[in-house]
Amino acid sequence: LRRAGLGLLGFGTVGRALANLVVEDRSRLERDVGVHFALVAVGNRGVARKRAEWSGGAPPRFTEDLESVVDDPDVSIVVELLGGLEPAGALVARALAAGKSVVTANKLLLAERGSELAALARMHGAGLGVEASVAGGIPILRALRESLAGDALLSVGGILNGTCNFILSGMEKTGRSYAEMLADAQRLGYAEADPSADVLGGDAACKLTLLARMAFGQEVALRDVAKEGITHLMPCDFVYAKALGRTLKQLATCAALPDGRLLLGVRTHLVAGHALLAKLEGPFNAVRVVARRAGELVFTGRGAGGDPTAVAVLSDVLELARAVRPEVPPFGFESLAPRRLAGPEDFVAPFALRFVVRDRPGIIAEIARCLAEHEVNIDAVLQEPFGEKSALPFVMTVEPIAEARLLGALQAIRELPFHAEEPAAFPMTS
Ligand SMILES: NC(=O)c1ccc[n+]([C@@H]2O[C@H](COP(=O)([O-])OP(=O)(O)OC[C@H]3O[C@@H](n4cnc5c(N)ncnc54)[C@H](OP(=O)(O)O)[C@@H]3O)[C@@H](O)[C@H]2O)c1
Repeated sequence: LRRAGLGLLGFGTVGRALANLVVEDRSRLERDVGVHFALVAVGNRGVARKRAEWSGGAPPRFTEDLESVVDDPDVSIVVELLGGLEPAGALVARALAAGKSVVTANKLLLAERGSELAALARMHGAGLGVEASVAGGIPILRALRESLAGDALLSVGGILNGTCNFILSGMEKTGRSYAEMLADAQRLGYAEADPSADVLGGDAACKLTLLARMAFGQEVALRDVAKEGITHLMPCDFVYAKALGRTLKQLATCAALPDGRLLLGVRTHLVAGHALLAKLEGPFNAVRVVARRAGELVFTGRGAGGDPTAVAVLSDVLELARAVRPEVPPFGFESLAPRRLAGPEDFVAPFALRFVVRDRPGIIAEIARCLAEHEVNIDAVLQEPFGEKSALPFVMTVEPIAEARLLGALQAIRELPFHAEEPAAFPMTS
């Protein structure tokens, strides 16, 4: 039997789940894959805290010396589950430069240094497994890179952050505030003590960067993704969404325009109630791909969590253990082309504008004047019978318009003196 020695960097949520999987499923893996997997070494800071009860074979070597895991002659595949840019980046590069294959779930590292690491892997004949870095247990990257390589893609994206989806679908269902739902998410372990990467859109932007590279073969950078958080959403937004037959979802989207430029963004959309993504509740992920010939495909499932993510990691490990030399480059393209980006002038959609104002006569007329000056056509005005005179919410929908023009109108509207909250604009998409 061939032998694969695993070196594990990071013994946290995913690292621990992976170690369990390898130990519990060892005989199944030997039988099905024909490879004997041995967990050789585990590296983590403060490792005494981490030592686990070990059943089934000799325990691995636990160490705080992370480089010694990479350099261990018995380790042929390094699994990086530390997270963050450093020391993860230096350790991954060290392993690849030594010709050792690496599997990582580190979306931030891949979004920042993915191309460089993929090139290093190729140069040294090593593999780089990245499936777990986007949407945890959903096998989307392999699907894009391999199963859909025969088609031309038109768009990719979806609900890529389970924490945001948990908060938004909870606000919709219970009428509670953003702060209350965030506290629930933290209590249930769906949100970190510092939730900013999730709720400000950074996490989804990292994943979208990777999806965009794999779907379109362009060298998309993290900073190319315009992002907006969900922290400004109010319970009344869901009331108006319902009145419009819609719901609010944080969507990360990348669409290719006919000229090949990419339109990228993470923001809250008013999604049509009948759309598949509108129905996804709780801490789940959904990735929607539109391909020229294959049409629309939606992949849903657990985008996070120890076990689902560890399965994606282990599947990459199996592929690397089977292959003498990896055939498919990590991002699916022999080389990435320079990116060509579209901007707000290219994003055309109907929008809903939400205002919360200190009530006084003439407000709608003043807003309408600003919109007309920027050639934005009002479609409807909605006002539900609630709210106080000091903070009265209402919504205006506008006909399809390039976002750049709408932003100009909103800039002028913001300067009007009656706002109790910042105005918000939501594109209405299906
Ligand atoms: N959790 C998920 O559902 C999920 C899903 C998809 C992808 N991922 C990705 O998987 C990776 C791991 O996530 P996780 O949730 O397992 O994180 P985690 O629970 O925080 O585990 C990370 C582990 O690495 C250790 N570590 C971090 N920095 C270190 C350093 N400088 N030196 C030594 N040890 C260090 C941590 O030790 P301490 O305990 O001392 O902090 C911890 O045990 C991340 O890249 C994450 O983005 C996670």
